[in-house]
Amino acid sequence: MTDDLIRALPKAELHLHIEGSLEPEMVFRLADRHGVALAYDSVDALRAAYDFHDLQSFLDLYYAGADVLRDEADFYDMTRAYLARAAADGVVHSEIFFDPQTHTARGIGFDVFMPGMLRALADGERELGVSAKLILCFLRHLSADDAMATLDAALPWRDAICAVGLDSSERGHPPSKFTAVFDRARALGLLTVAHAGEEGPPAYIVEALDLLKVRRIDHGVRCVEDGALVERLAREQVPLTVCPLSNVKLCVFERAADHNLKTLLERGLCVTVNSDDPAYFGGYVADNYRAMQTALSLSDAQIVQLARNSITASFADDDAKARWL
Ligand code: HPA
Ligand code: ZN
Repeated sequence: MTDDLIRALPKAELHLHIEGSLEPEMVFRLADRHGVALAYDSVDALRAAYDFHDLQSFLDLYYAGADVLRDEADFYDMTRAYLARAAADGVVHSEIFFDPQTHTARGIGFDVFMPGMLRALADGERELGVSAKLILCFLRHLSADDAMATLDAALPWRDAICAVGLDSSERGHPPSKFTAVFDRARALGLLTVAHAGEEGPPAYIVEALDLLKVRRIDHGVRCVEDGALVERLAREQVPLTVCPLSNVKLCVFERAADHNLKTLLERGLCVTVNSDDPAYFGGYVADNYRAMQTALSLSDAQIVQLARNSITASFADDDAKARWL
């Protein structure tokens, strides 16, 4: 029953790194296409390497995997495959993160990855009925100047981008490092989100809200360490885009049963469930709902609430939201 319910409910996915949807099979196919040598000799060997102990140990493999993305068709294939997989899980709307600096640093520009992703979004909308938006993420381990230059390079594509975000290594790279970049993004009419409180302290969530003026917090699970912050997040109904399987794979929680998603939901926060980097963390969005339902004994009403939260927390227009709710 619950399994069918999870799939059948219209859901929005709000925390999905497109480079993290690159399945090992596609890594090998694209490496073959371009004659790129890989550090692993089989799909199974690559998948076996996905055994992480923290965020950085994952990021090292995630950036290495993205190196096979070379031309427009690669970005198309990756994005189109994600949309098909998401649609099979009942995703009606997806707000997709992409990491321009991972590509521009390798000499692959906006003129390569934007057309590939946008062509896939158009086909996905027409063929699968999934609507989608793009969120440009800045890599927080790089400088604020590099982020500003990336925003400049994105200007010709301004109308194809809905928001900016902040990802990569959290500890030691607080949101305050990017205040000027986010000020400029908002002046351009872009919405803002940020990863905060995944590995970093609750103070980073406060900075993201107060300095970057974010509309949502990505992850945010460490908010529970600050009672006043939990109360604020509940009062202001700031959505958290929580990624349960990611949190377990990256050892933010030791086991699924230790996850605080149910606690946050019951304290009145606008919690959503998302897959983050599904090719690396062992599941797409329905798998994440299922893992939490099983480990935390979520009721059907709580599953319905999580799906509804994902729609209301999205940046879709009110007419679209009304259709899905
Ligand atoms: N956290 C930070 N950076 C990331 C993540 C994440 O979960 N996934 C891809 N880049
Ligand atoms: Zn993420």
